[in-house]
Amino acid sequence: MSGLSFGSYYPMKDIDVETASFVCLPITSNKSGMKLLASNDLYLRYLTEYGSIPGWVNYGIFYVLWVIIRFQYEELHINDGAIGEIGVHAGKLTSYLYLLRHLNKKQKLFAIDVFGKKELNIDKSGDGDRKVFLSYIQRYANVTADEVNIYEGSSLDLNSDFSKNLEAQRWWQTTIKRDRGCQLVSIDGGHTTLTTYSDMCVISNSLVDGGVVMVDDIDNPGWLGVRDGVSKFLCETSNYFNIRENLDLTEAATKNVYEPDFNYSCRIVKATMKTMKFGCNCYRLAPFLKYDNKLFLTTPNYYAHYVHLLKKINENGTNLIAFNKLRYTVGNIPVWADSELKKVDIFDKLVKPTWLSEIAHATTHS
Ligand SMILES: C[S@@+](CC[C@H](N)C(=O)[O-])C[C@H]1O[C@@H](n2cnc3c(N)ncnc32)[C@H](O)[C@@H]1O
Repeated sequence: MSGLSFGSYYPMKDIDVETASFVCLPITSNKSGMKLLASNDLYLRYLTEYGSIPGWVNYGIFYVLWVIIRFQYEELHINDGAIGEIGVHAGKLTSYLYLLRHLNKKQKLFAIDVFGKKELNIDKSGDGDRKVFLSYIQRYANVTADEVNIYEGSSLDLNSDFSKNLEAQRWWQTTIKRDRGCQLVSIDGGHTTLTTYSDMCVISNSLVDGGVVMVDDIDNPGWLGVRDGVSKFLCETSNYFNIRENLDLTEAATKNVYEPDFNYSCRIVKATMKTMKFGCNCYRLAPFLKYDNKLFLTTPNYYAHYVHLLKKINENGTNLIAFNKLRYTVGNIPVWADSELKKVDIFDKLVKPTWLSEIAHATTHS
């Protein structure tokens, strides 16, 4: 069977769905550094003051994002993909995403929001303001207006299946996609089924191998369009894990609930892989984590790596995010999910001290 082209630009790999060898690409672990452009003071200022920035972000997510970007920088050697958000409001989360940018300054930063074009915010999700956004990213991430690529308009404009706005599509293609693609993206713009679905298609098309996209409000009953849009995307791009045909996988799944095995995770992705090119310009993404009302997805060839990464964090205890459950909730694929344990306690006692010293280390340059 011929290979399936996946993730359009960087680093392009062909997926052979028969052998699924794509899934288990070994990581050549020659650790590169976790070196951030932001200073330690800036980082600490954000973490101290973030509660006063208007917006909707919980503290716990910062550490999760830290773990993900550290993995991308140190193990996957991805440090030149774009970082950005669809739906920035005042830039509460965007500032943090920008704080994570690498010292090498190769990453593009982007922000997409309707801002002043309020009539395009059809479901009234948030209320972005360009000026306010720029002032917060300057204060908390030391990013100036010149350093961020902004699209002011509906993110639907970026999808040629739903919009004839060629200028917007050209902007996305030439500024972000064609350059490198994205390595870390938050989707938190319009919360309708269509917008969520469309945003996922656009980003799935632009993600570098091993890049991560997170979708906000996956668990929010007030914004069911998000779950609907995500479901539509996953249904169109994945096969269902068929219990009858995959008895051995099902059996393995029972054993793997607390101990996800790397090879097993690879097989799960293979079993749910669609063997054709998907409609609507969407590429397959595999969910691996549902945490704090956000769903995290990556390109399928790195699903097993991320599942494994989170398992390792759990194992060594101190870096605990308290994942103790693999659930079959998302597109029939097991994903890590929040624990019911008291997150704040665990976080403050076991995670924060180590994390703060990691930040100090990553933000100190000799
Ligand atoms: C929930 S808020 C985002 C919150 C933000 N991520 C934070 O960290 O606090 C949603 C944002 O999406 C913007 N928005 C709404 N519909 C949009 C659309 N179709 N395209 C782009 N942005 C949109 C709104 O202006 C608003 O700023």
